[in-house]
Formats: sequence, C-alpha cells, structure tokens
Amino acid sequence: MATEEFTDAIALLKNDHREVEDLFANFEKASGSDRKWKLAEQICNELKIHTILEEEIFYPATKEAVEEDLYKEAFVEHDAAKVLINDIMESGGEGEFFESKVGVLQEEIEHHVKEEEQRGEGYFAQVRGSDIDLVALRDQMLARKEELKAQVEAGGLPPAELTTVDADAS
Ligand SMILES: [Fe+2]
Ligand SMILES: [Fe+2]
Repeated sequence: MATEEFTDAIALLKNDHREVEDLFANFEKASGSDRKWKLAEQICNELKIHTILEEEIFYPATKEAVEEDLYKEAFVEHDAAKVLINDIMESGGEGEFFESKVGVLQEEIEHHVKEEEQRGEGYFAQVRGSDIDLVALRDQMLARKEELKAQVEAGGLPPAELTTVDADAS
C-alpha cells in the first residue's frame, strides 16, 4: 500500500468521493437485482468507512479551521445518510423502495460532497487555508482505513452509528 498514492488527507478523501460516485453510476446502469444489490452493498460499505474516517479523524482534527455551522452540518448530513445506509443494508436489496433509497442516498451524498469540495468556501478549502499537517492526517486515516477494510472482509461492519440524531434529546 503506497501512502505516496495520495498527496495528503484531502486527496485521499476526494478519491473516496470519486470512487463512490462511480459506484452510484454503475448502480444506475446495472440491470439484474443481484448486481444491483452487490453494488448497493459496496456503496454502503465505502460510505461507512468514509464517514468513520472523517468523523473519527478528519473532522475533529480540522474543527478549528472551519466555520462552526459547516462543521456541525457535516455530522448531521452524515447521520441522514447513515439512516438510509443502515436501512439499505438491512433490506438485502429486497422491497419496492430499494432502488429509490439508493437514488435518494446518491442525492444526499452529492450534496454533501459539494459542501466539502466547493471551491473557495467548502470544508476542504477552509482546511487548506490552515497550517494543519494534512500528510500526518492522511497516514492516520490510511491506517484506520486498512483496519476497517479488513473488518469488511472478515464479515462486515456493524450498522453505522448515528452521532447527532437524538443527541439533543434529554
Ligand atoms: Fe467526504
Ligand atoms: Fe463528509
């Protein structure tokens, strides 16, 4: 595994975004329920890993560099996606709403990725303007990613944990 493959943490995360976009495009084109389910499963696993990397490592390490609203919304947007991710995984690709759920998940992710990558004012752009060590963050995230991928291989990740939904209820 070459850490040189990605210049820094942001390059790694953007690469994840491109990979999941490709998977969504393949899902749209795919025919046959087995193929669609395989792709949906892959999309959900990729997104679970990506949200864990961001929430455990990238977001906390960059909190001070970005506007508070943007920081908080990132977590809430992840949670909204996780509700669908867990539901899709649970469905096993069955049910009349399966394809619609994957379609809506795609729209949610597109919106969220835009907020992260938007030129000038997006999350990543704000981080770029700071002096955070993005190479060290990349290495931390790569190590965690390997661990999580091994977990997927070994039988799967548990359902995605919601971090903000219900957190305000007392
Ligand atoms: Fe992301
Ligand atoms: Fe994110």
